[in-house]
Amino acid sequence: MDQKRQVGLEAALRVEDGQVVGLGTGSTAHYFIKGLGDRIKEEELDILGIPTSYQSFFLAQECGIPVTTLDEHQVDLAVDGADEVDPQLNLIKGGGGAHTREKMVDYDAKTFLVIVDESKLVERLGKFPVPVEVLPLAYRVVKDHLLSIGGIPNLRMAQMKDGPFISDNNNFILDVQFTSLPDPAQLEMELNNIPGVLENGIFTGAVDEVLIGSSREVKSLKR
Ligand code: A5P
Repeated sequence: MDQKRQVGLEAALRVEDGQVVGLGTGSTAHYFIKGLGDRIKEEELDILGIPTSYQSFFLAQECGIPVTTLDEHQVDLAVDGADEVDPQLNLIKGGGGAHTREKMVDYDAKTFLVIVDESKLVERLGKFPVPVEVLPLAYRVVKDHLLSIGGIPNLRMAQMKDGPFISDNNNFILDVQFTSLPDPAQLEMELNNIPGVLENGIFTGAVDEVLIGSSREVKSLKR
């Protein structure tokens, strides 16, 4: 079975009746949301979902998962994919530009479960550029600031539209390459201190468990 599907369906089995569930974004979270929708129908579960993007909102609707907001409920269990996972369970996320809403939902969760295929495991974060969501009017100042701290920022461009990619929150994304990323927690804070930065895709100290797909059974890494 495809590893993304394998871990997505396994995570769907972790959801308990009555929970408020954070619905991650991306191709792995897609399988989780589908699996959860199937369980809700088959087992008549009483679940509320909190989507992390328009993608997961539309999919939740299609799968019959009732949705709510962070204002109304705290998240019991958040399930989300990642672009990189290191041995300390730090992440880079935001390959799909959804990391701001993902971080709000995932950090609010009592339990944060990450689902990945084996290709996402790394010894050190940083081969994947760090996505940074930026207010459009702050583009030049943020770019200059990132250059001054050793980052190489690239404005993410849209596909099927001329010009920059626009996030679900109507902002730009800068994909920032660092030569090394020795202290993810420090960089996560430093990036968010730049005026005009809304959120960056480094996630530290938040993950409870990672489910990793494999050719045999699903593996698990716990904090
Ligand atoms: C969305 O912006 C991302 O944070 C995704 O969660 C991450 O890119 C993982 O996506 P895939 O499951 O599609 O690899």
